[in-house]
Amino acid sequence: MDEFDRGEFKFMKKMNRNDPCWCGSGKKYKQCHEAMDEKIAYYARKGHIVPRRDMLKTQEEIEKIKESAKINVAVLDYVAERICAGISTEQINQWVEEKTREMGGIPAPLGFEGYPKSVCTSINDQVCHGIPSEQIILQDGDIINVDVSTIYNGYFSDSSRMFCIGSVSPEREKLVRVVKECVELGLQQVKPWGFMGDMAQAVQEHAEANGYHVVREIGGHGIGLEFHEDPWVGYIGSKGTDMLLVPGLMFTIEPMVNAGAPDIYIDDNDGWTIYTEDGSDSAQWEIQIVVTEDGYEVIAY
Ligand code: MF3
Ligand code: CO
Repeated sequence: MDEFDRGEFKFMKKMNRNDPCWCGSGKKYKQCHEAMDEKIAYYARKGHIVPRRDMLKTQEEIEKIKESAKINVAVLDYVAERICAGISTEQINQWVEEKTREMGGIPAPLGFEGYPKSVCTSINDQVCHGIPSEQIILQDGDIINVDVSTIYNGYFSDSSRMFCIGSVSPEREKLVRVVKECVELGLQQVKPWGFMGDMAQAVQEHAEANGYHVVREIGGHGIGLEFHEDPWVGYIGSKGTDMLLVPGLMFTIEPMVNAGAPDIYIDDNDGWTIYTEDGSDSAQWEIQIVVTEDGYEVIAY
């Protein structure tokens, strides 16, 4: 498929209805994506933000990305079986290296924009992008996000989970649970011809109903052929707004939710770790999903 065919929707070449479809299915355009393209054009004319064609994954691409996600999920399972009080976050980094390479993958964070490790490990008031270290030892009562991303055969996957270390306070346990619920409620809003804002509102409402605040500055992203693709995905929004959801659109739902104020700052020393401004705890869960003909499919969790 040439660059012109995959370009901005509004500059799209008018396809001949009998041409092979741009998606590579081998079917004629009129029997494949024509109806969908027309529907997208209709929403665009009404003033909605619509995805560019190059944001929509083909079935072939989705299958390849799922192979990558298989590794990502296995790596998180591997960590889940082992994580406990007394280990360093560098130990988690080594487990991620070990399991990813054993399965033929490459940890996507390593060297990404200069990031020095293969996974992000963010504890308590660390919001995200915590760097594993031999000096950081997990303590009983900590909550930690382990964010794993994999490249396999050139295809990208990305998901993260929270872990409660030993016995955590009821407040921390609730934060971890509620943020997981935020992701699940957001996910339930995902369907073709819905909007990104439907998902965002569900996340934001559940977080705020529990007295928490969603981080505004950092969001999710398209993913699959690159680590971070368009669109940028926020979790503050309202129904019927933001990007139209279309089959083939693949992105992450990964809200960062603070128990206190939403404000954050970046660690000047390492240039990566993000903390809550007020020192309150923060939690994040991340899933990778694709919009399907009748709803969504979870790719990595
Ligand atoms: N895994 C993060 C995400 O969910 C990105 C981390 S970038 C890194 O998008 F360089 F810190 F790894
Ligand atoms: Co992500």
